[in-house]
Amino acid sequence: MKEAPIVEYGAPVDPRTMVEPPDVTELELEPGHPGLGDVAYVQRRKDLFALCRAHRLKRLGPPLIDYTAEETRIWREVSPKLDELHRKHASRIYLQAKDTLGISQTEIPQLRHLSERLTRETRMHLVPAEGPLPYRTFYSYIAERGFPVTQFIRHGSHPEFTPEPDMIHDCLGHVPALMNADYAELLTLIGKAAFTTPHPEHVLALKRFSWFSIEFGLIEEDAETKIFGAGILSSTGEIPFSLSNNVKHLPFVTSKVIETDYDPSRMQDLLFIIPSFAFLRREVEQLVKRLGISVL
Ligand SMILES: [Fe+2]
Repeated sequence: MKEAPIVEYGAPVDPRTMVEPPDVTELELEPGHPGLGDVAYVQRRKDLFALCRAHRLKRLGPPLIDYTAEETRIWREVSPKLDELHRKHASRIYLQAKDTLGISQTEIPQLRHLSERLTRETRMHLVPAEGPLPYRTFYSYIAERGFPVTQFIRHGSHPEFTPEPDMIHDCLGHVPALMNADYAELLTLIGKAAFTTPHPEHVLALKRFSWFSIEFGLIEEDAETKIFGAGILSSTGEIPFSLSNNVKHLPFVTSKVIETDYDPSRMQDLLFIIPSFAFLRREVEQLVKRLGISVL
């Protein structure tokens, strides 16, 4: 019997895609992508897609990449701007980890080296990703303590913007916090749960939980609202926007979060504020228990 559709991004989706996600085998750039029409950029993306996909599927770890002068230029333009914003607005857990990791603002880091460092610190590693992976596929790697990371850089015509997660999002948004052992455990637990459950609605609940925390969470620290989510931390536009009056801020209540749909294609105008990291950890554990997923 066919399962009832569930709604995601405002439209019904086939529930099976939650537990049996499609595999994208070719590079797809969405309509309006800033790189469309730039033949050299599209070719570079195709080459990196093929290389990173092969390394992911063969479990070879991140390949070493010879970055071009243009890619380095974009990195040098964006990373200091983000760093300035991070000093003011990022959560303590992120900032401390970022300082310990010490990612260069002048040279694009090699994922292979960052991965070795993470393995030494928190037993996490980085998995090369050819592009955005479906949620369950993405978190199946995290269940094994591997974090999928892209190795391509956004198009140079819009250094402040990328329609899909690129290396700036992944390396400057996600990777630093993986240096924190408690953060690594929280992520791994979500990964195990998302990968273990046979129920599409459980995957959707965990996906929304991840979206409103790991990707777009705000967190309270010393009576101030700080930025926790990688989606915000990797965008020079989203950082000030997320703390502005244009956004509706609600307390992070898990039962509400997992019922809340979102649109990933635009700036986020509804965000939840997490009272503390310890609270978030407890909420994940309780959610996994409540859903009856046996991973603990
Ligand atoms: Fe992300």
